[in-house]
Amino acid sequence: MNIHELLKQMTLTEKVGQLAQLSPFFLLQELEKEAAGPIRELDLNEQKIFSIGSILGIGSAEDMIKVQTRYLEKSRLRIPLLFMGDIIHGYKTIFPVPLGLAASFNPECARETARVSAREASVAGLHMTFSPMADLVRDPRWGRVVESFGESKHLLGAFAAAMVEGYQTPQPEGYRLSACVKHFAAYGAAEAGMDYNTVDISRLSLHNHYLAGYREAIRAGAKGVMTAFNVFEGLPCTINDYLLKDVLRDNLGFTGVTISDYASLFETISHGVALDLKDAARRGLSAGLDIEMASVAYLTHLEKLVAAGEVSEALLDDAVLRILRLKAELGLFDNPFRGADLARQAKLMLHPDHLASAETVAKECLVLLENNGVLPLVNTTTLALIGPFATAKRTSGPWSWHGYRDENTSLAEALARAGCHLLLAKSGEGPEAYDEADYRQIRDAEVVILYLGEAATRSGEARSLTDIGLPHEQLALYGKIRELGKKTVVLLQNGRPLLLAPLAQADAILETWFLGSRAAEAIAATLLGENNPSGKLPMTFPRNMGQIPIYHDRLRTGRPLKNEDRPGEFEAKYLDSRNSPLYPFAHGKSYSRFESHDLSLSKHRLTSGELLEMTINITNHGPRSGMATVLVYLSDPQAKISRPVQELIKFKKVHLEAGETQAVSFTITLADLTYHLGDGTLSYDPGKFTIRLGLSPTDLKEAEFTLL
Ligand code: GLC
Repeated sequence: MNIHELLKQMTLTEKVGQLAQLSPFFLLQELEKEAAGPIRELDLNEQKIFSIGSILGIGSAEDMIKVQTRYLEKSRLRIPLLFMGDIIHGYKTIFPVPLGLAASFNPECARETARVSAREASVAGLHMTFSPMADLVRDPRWGRVVESFGESKHLLGAFAAAMVEGYQTPQPEGYRLSACVKHFAAYGAAEAGMDYNTVDISRLSLHNHYLAGYREAIRAGAKGVMTAFNVFEGLPCTINDYLLKDVLRDNLGFTGVTISDYASLFETISHGVALDLKDAARRGLSAGLDIEMASVAYLTHLEKLVAAGEVSEALLDDAVLRILRLKAELGLFDNPFRGADLARQAKLMLHPDHLASAETVAKECLVLLENNGVLPLVNTTTLALIGPFATAKRTSGPWSWHGYRDENTSLAEALARAGCHLLLAKSGEGPEAYDEADYRQIRDAEVVILYLGEAATRSGEARSLTDIGLPHEQLALYGKIRELGKKTVVLLQNGRPLLLAPLAQADAILETWFLGSRAAEAIAATLLGENNPSGKLPMTFPRNMGQIPIYHDRLRTGRPLKNEDRPGEFEAKYLDSRNSPLYPFAHGKSYSRFESHDLSLSKHRLTSGELLEMTINITNHGPRSGMATVLVYLSDPQAKISRPVQELIKFKKVHLEAGETQAVSFTITLADLTYHLGDGTLSYDPGKFTIRLGLSPTDLKEAEFTLL
């Protein structure tokens, strides 16, 4: 398809229509019957509706075929619709939430999640997913940390890139999904962790931290970028020229399609910037917004603005061409129904291979926070399983949009299937949920498993909290079980860091996030020792609310705390809390005892063009095989600007048999020593660097080198 020739044939109405994205509702309704409702309120008519360029959300191949067919019957130039949707961590087969995927410290888990998602969503007729969410996050009060890959720009970048590749790499059967990375930009920096709230960060922080995930997703080939709800420098991202032109197009070199978030162009009015819908339309196109999702500023006003010369038609043509180019790349002009396949849809959804993959991935995402040896439950005879999620099947978490929920197994069922003797398996929020007969069973059980945390409705979009502590009822239940003197294993289902200090007496704490369709199987396998937990925290877990935001790569201060046990009077500290978090970023235990030793560097002085090879030995002292992640932290003690005390720059996960020792190597290049300045340029500083490697953030081997 020659999209330039096609553009020449398009009327102004048809060009403007390509920039609009609506829900399929508008095309499935009998429009003439629409006496009131959104079509009337939005002043839409049939000509406008059947000129739109893309659809937000479709739930099956049948619906996609119906909508596309109906649309093409009325489309003069038969320009096919593009179907987009939120496939965030799986389509029907649900994988762990992104924060849980990041906890695997294995980007292959993200790639596999995206690969399977592409198989299931593409045969249902979807062409583009609004994923990966690449917002860097440091504030667990924000509900959407569940959708992110955490606080480390390096971990986040690796996972965002892997997800894009997983979606977009064509599979033998032709399955693929275009990736639209979001939310551009710095949505995760919402003040006080309140969703949709003001973001007020410097250009230095933007370029040096918050852009990292989008940058890597774009490098990996993401075809779309979605603008964020928030402002940057006082201007809504959706109409922000600096972000959409200077940063996205010029600095990051993005050439694909930009799309607003849900009605975020319309919301530039509520931000107090756009005067009205007409002004919003003018500002959006001028700033470089291609597609308007779920509002009608473009559909209602752009044609008149262009006709009146208030907006250049050349700008409109550029946007239309980017959209047509995406449709051509997807092969939609050759086959408007690309992907949608009823037979494959029937075969692929929840395919056993997909479920097996989801279980394998889930097993890498669990994080063992504490364990005094009570886990694994290898010789335990009797168990009691209580807490709000003991018999729950809804383990898929937020944004498991089309995921099947009732097919999920509950932990109670999975443990019973594994042959465990459950004296009691009963869901309940607090102590009163259990009667005297229950407590007799609990007293008789050798180990009590409390499955606590947050419901999926407490995590995700518009789910911010001022208190990330466990609900009082759950703490009361935990306290009651402790009073009984029982061995307690706490399981956590949650989409954000929680305040876990009250659980200090637990014999074990296992972080399970929202692990998806095979959550129960993965948790049971871990409790029983078939799976050796290997996850690490992708976000810092604070001691208390007052420490937030707290993250691993904080900058130095002029008065650093020298000794946390004996703080100096005039040092950076609190009077009422230690500085250190309860669990640091990258904390995570194993059932095996791993040791890192014998760090060696190929050289200690290097020029900017040379490479530095580092090797460290990892030994698994057993008792069982398992995976361990080697962490590499860099410290740049003197630079143009203050640099983090230390920041994760590399990581590598390895599998070792019990008794095995492996040499794990890394190559440091100049790129690893650079950082961004506020103007978006890269910088580095000759001089001394400290490098620290190890398996735990609190047990690192250190070495120095000098960049000449
Ligand atoms: C939502 C979210 C965004 C999602 C979009 C479409 O409000 O902010 O992440 O992709 O709308 O559902």
